[in-house]
Amino acid sequence: MKNKIVLSGMRPTGKLHLGHLHGVLENWKKLQEDYSCFFFVADWHALTSEYADTKEIKSNIHDMVIDWLSVGIDPEKAILFIQSNVIEHAELQLLLSMITPLSWLERVPTYKEQVENIRDKDLGTYGFLGYPLLQSADILIYNANYVPVGVDQVPHIEFTREVARRFNYLYSNVFVEPEELLTDYPKLPGTDGRKMSKSYNNSIYISDSDEVITKKLKTAMTDPQRVRRDDPGDPEVCPIFAYHRIYSTTQQIDYVTDGCKTAGIGCIECKKILTDNILGELIPYREKREELLKSPETIEDIINDGNKRAREHAAGTMARVREAMKF
Ligand code: TRP
Ligand code: SF4
Repeated sequence: MKNKIVLSGMRPTGKLHLGHLHGVLENWKKLQEDYSCFFFVADWHALTSEYADTKEIKSNIHDMVIDWLSVGIDPEKAILFIQSNVIEHAELQLLLSMITPLSWLERVPTYKEQVENIRDKDLGTYGFLGYPLLQSADILIYNANYVPVGVDQVPHIEFTREVARRFNYLYSNVFVEPEELLTDYPKLPGTDGRKMSKSYNNSIYISDSDEVITKKLKTAMTDPQRVRRDDPGDPEVCPIFAYHRIYSTTQQIDYVTDGCKTAGIGCIECKKILTDNILGELIPYREKREELLKSPETIEDIINDGNKRAREHAAGTMARVREAMKF
């Protein structure tokens, strides 16, 4: 299977939380064992909405790459790179823009929705409209077979297939039509029960210290009906229980379910079991992080090497694209 290519990108949002760890990175770790993987930081994509304030992008890239490496995304197994260091992506986007009908871009569901809903920035730009096409270039330039993404991204992969088909039809068969790889895994709620998100201030970060995680869990929301220790609770409505599902053993889950429903255990005990499990899982990641932080030049070398290897692949495809277009 190593001859099948997997590619995925993340916009540089900065440090990653446990939702990213279980929703994305654990999946990448599995994929890197079996496929030829490309994982990259989509920093140009960040610009499509953050163009007016770019000062945090660089440090966000750094924080995110450290998280990837510390949890075990392995540069020996996958090619890790930064989009803006492989300028061929931009050349391909430009060439593809010549054959992409405006209507295809305008009907991408995320587009209109975001232009209308995001009021604090002007997203009526050419770059923002072109977001899915830049993503197509990211994917097609490596002839990726599979693209692991969340459901919200499926229209972008469909759009990419249409662009590839059009190019192949107009010139010659250069591009593979990629397929999405959907990982369906239960969404991890934030400590307040809403979706875990940086902007809600309810996230537990991979890089949080033991003390910080313990404190965040201590004050996290539980079943609101369970006010006093002897009130029975309902684990189904409790964010802490959603975490138990991921972090605890079957016996612990049974113990907690029963104890909650019968008021046999209190939330403090329930949270203590969970806290120990989460901290336990993060120990090896923390060790790896400390090692990485001791030698920043290693991180730089990893990225430089990944950029170089990605560029070689991208340059190969671009040569074939130019030839197909008689350039
Ligand atoms: N649009 C993706 C997201 O917001 C990020 C991304 C950019 C991407 N280019 C990609 C994902 C190529 C997969 C493949 O999550
Ligand atoms: Fe939630 Fe556990 Fe308290 Fe039940 S006992 S409400 S599952 S924290």
